[in-house]
Amino acid sequence: MRAVRAFVHEIRRTLRCFAGDSDHAGQVLSILDQMDLSEANQHDWMPSEPPHDRDLWQAIEGTSQRLDRLAKALREALPELQWRVDRGTYYELTADVGDGYRNGNMHCELIGPHGSAFHHPDFTLGLFLLTPHVLYRDHAHRAPELYLTLSGPSGWRFNGGAWQDVPPGTIIWNAPEKSHATRVYDDPFLAIYSWTRDIRSKCRVVPCADWAEIEAALQSAESGARPTPRKQPHVNPQSEF
Ligand SMILES: [Fe+2]
Repeated sequence: MRAVRAFVHEIRRTLRCFAGDSDHAGQVLSILDQMDLSEANQHDWMPSEPPHDRDLWQAIEGTSQRLDRLAKALREALPELQWRVDRGTYYELTADVGDGYRNGNMHCELIGPHGSAFHHPDFTLGLFLLTPHVLYRDHAHRAPELYLTLSGPSGWRFNGGAWQDVPPGTIIWNAPEKSHATRVYDDPFLAIYSWTRDIRSKCRVVPCADWAEIEAALQSAESGARPTPRKQPHVNPQSEF
């Protein structure tokens, strides 16, 4: 677990560098600063092969230079990581998440109440990956959520508004019950995620009439029928959303 512990420390260092005066990252950092990462607070944790291993490698290799140290710590931790696919963990099994999410997600929970490397009763920190050309449909949850994007660009919309593309190294903050959706282009989506409280409440999808149209466009991009949205030069330079 030595490399996992080092990776968590590197996530904390990276967040501190990228956070600036962000209160949102500060909420995550204040919990991480008090985390017990000793052996006494470890769960039994067996490494497992990532179900989407090629996408994971592509995402790590494609991250920006600003995230080099974090990418190196992640590479070193890979043999110790345990990966899971969400089937009823974050959503009810009957939720309308779509086949893209259902077949294209995986996560590794580094800190959490169970199934993680280190224990915390009401806080999670981990890695989340989506395969290319997936629409992660609009959804909301009670837990406040932070993402630090490691790959990309990726597309985001909040409360059903206009889509915005963000580069690797962007902090996304989703307040409780704020609806959000993600478009994954040619590059797999890889991010650090954290839920800072109320983590036992599941996500709920927020139905939108344009899902089928967006998913068809992403599928067309995958088959080469259309240029992918990532070719458009409108990556937003903001560092936090
Ligand atoms: Fe979310």
